[in-house]
Amino acid sequence: MSAPSSAIESVLVENRVFPPSEATQKAARVAGMAAYEALCAEAEKDYEAYWARLARENVVWSKPFTQILDESNAPFYRWFADGELNASANCLDKHMGTAVEHKTAIIFEADDGQVTKVSYRELLNRVAQFANGLKAQGIKKGDRVLIYMPMTIEGVVAMQACARIGATHSVVFGGFSAKAVQERIVDVGASAVITANYQMRGGKELPLKAIVDDALQMGGCEHVGHVFVFERTATATHMVAGRDMTFAQLLDGQSTDCPPVAVDAEHPLFILYTSGSTGKPKGVQHSTGGYMLWAKQTVEWTFDMQPTDVFWCTADIGWITGHTYVAYGPLAAGATQIVFEGVPTFPHAGRFWQMIERHGCTVFYTAPTAIRSLIKAAETDEKVHPKNWNLSSLRILGSVGEPINPEAWMWYYRNVGGERCPIVDTFWQTENGGHMITPLPGATPLVPGSCTLPLPGITAAIVDETGNDLPNGAGGMLVVKRPWPSMIRNIWGDPERFKKSYFPEELGGKTYLAGDGAVRSEDRGYFRITGRIDDVLNVSGHRMGTMEIESALVSKTDLVAEAAVVGRPDDMTGEAICAFVVLKRPMPTDPEEAKALATELRNWVAKEIGPIAKPKDIRFGENLPKTRSGKIMRRLLRSIAKGEAITQDTSTLENPAILDQLSKTN
Ligand code: WT7
Repeated sequence: MSAPSSAIESVLVENRVFPPSEATQKAARVAGMAAYEALCAEAEKDYEAYWARLARENVVWSKPFTQILDESNAPFYRWFADGELNASANCLDKHMGTAVEHKTAIIFEADDGQVTKVSYRELLNRVAQFANGLKAQGIKKGDRVLIYMPMTIEGVVAMQACARIGATHSVVFGGFSAKAVQERIVDVGASAVITANYQMRGGKELPLKAIVDDALQMGGCEHVGHVFVFERTATATHMVAGRDMTFAQLLDGQSTDCPPVAVDAEHPLFILYTSGSTGKPKGVQHSTGGYMLWAKQTVEWTFDMQPTDVFWCTADIGWITGHTYVAYGPLAAGATQIVFEGVPTFPHAGRFWQMIERHGCTVFYTAPTAIRSLIKAAETDEKVHPKNWNLSSLRILGSVGEPINPEAWMWYYRNVGGERCPIVDTFWQTENGGHMITPLPGATPLVPGSCTLPLPGITAAIVDETGNDLPNGAGGMLVVKRPWPSMIRNIWGDPERFKKSYFPEELGGKTYLAGDGAVRSEDRGYFRITGRIDDVLNVSGHRMGTMEIESALVSKTDLVAEAAVVGRPDDMTGEAICAFVVLKRPMPTDPEEAKALATELRNWVAKEIGPIAKPKDIRFGENLPKTRSGKIMRRLLRSIAKGEAITQDTSTLENPAILDQLSKTN
């Protein structure tokens, strides 16, 4: 829980302010700062009554709740615990018989540009039929189902179908390796896996089913009785008799009528793995009731979702953003949304802008890393600059996943939003379920690089290491003082780690510790996130534990004796992974040999975790900088990784000569 001061120093002063236009403000769901402040005051006056009101208004309960917040077993908070609902019914069934029934739910654009649309009615039929298929195979409430799917309508259908029968899904991003899939299957105790034969990305056909097969062969997966395979492409894939079944076989003869199973509000809707600073990835367990409340409410507040909007969140369903703002929130809000299978640079780096024009997208939500790479592409090739497309349908832009630098913010504002669209820079985390600190498009005056103010009812604060509030202008640790409905409920199978990671004793055991450093501006009290204060990296908006990558490196036992991983700033990816490696053989003297070894190690990490975890820099050394007690001095490694001169105190260092050596090698 120590906060290196460099991570929380406030260095940036941003003076530009962009208030919403009068027209935007007038038409918005939360119209103006007075409306925002009124909601904050309501939450402050009677916290539980406020959340109960939102829960009644946003969620269809099959059995209404009478309890609101249960703090008796803190920090294992419970919300609306005696209420019952079904998440899928809250996204689909509730729209039947309304104007939304025949509205387009999903506009799917495939990697090759082919477009498929489904209405809410059609989506419900497909989800119900899939749910019946799962039931027929014995999948039932409480079972865990691992989903390893491409971005497709079928991916959303699979998640919704699990929710419909009360099975808890655990989606694993399609870029993770067989080893990562196997670890998650084992940890979550999955009884079935839903996958596709292949996925199409950037014109390439990439295997998914073969990776599942590899994962299942690694052992510990005996509880997996079924693998359901979506045939995304015509290419054949190996099928194991008695275990594997295509979607066509699963759905054959199944009715499109499947009553949703009511579950308790606290029933785990999903478990999503994310990286922590120590150990293996954590299975973040979310609820059904509180989660659905916030998924819908934040779509309506942050994106000001109106009946005519065409929403596009570019996140993959393998991440939390793809859960809350693709699979659940937009559907609960009855919105039309775009789902995109491919990548932003194929067949050219103007794909996003082209798709916005083609589908009349009005609310666009993406990650700073994508924006930065598209800025670079537009600067080198005029033809992919957003000015080549008509983006006048856009009215709101969003950013998520990492801090957006003011330069990228301004470019996005000018070139994509035509200086007309507010940018909502939404801060939140896998553990939060939905937006926490974000501007509201019709209320909050915007400051580039700042996620501005907490949503009403979110008690975000900045404290020092003993939990004392810090004044504006002082950097500290970001915390949330009171529980909120969509918060993480547990780490699957590891309640002790849950308590230690998020509710440390040093802060009293009831305050949620985000793991980020933050500072509030002197003038407005706006929050700016300064980056993680733990050993978690954020590379292109993807979260990775340094320890996970270190474990992967040292598991190459024929080559690696020791490894330390740190992050360094990178213009394109936000942070880049830098690995310091001690080999079990003499240091390579020939640069070609060093290069070959580095490539071998990068590929090894890709195999162990996934290509997103490949270190950008690998530096070899005969040793690592350590204290006399043997602790690796990471702050020194961070300086070396950045190419900085070492100004820190090195008097406790056992082997000072190593610093020179590591600074030289690359
Ligand atoms: C970490 C959470 C839920 C969003 C997807 C990532 C960083 C996220 C912002 C933002 C500054 C941000 C934080 C956070 N982060 N959004 N708008 N400004 N930093 O979810 O993988 O759970 O990562 O992403 O460091 O702790 P995640």
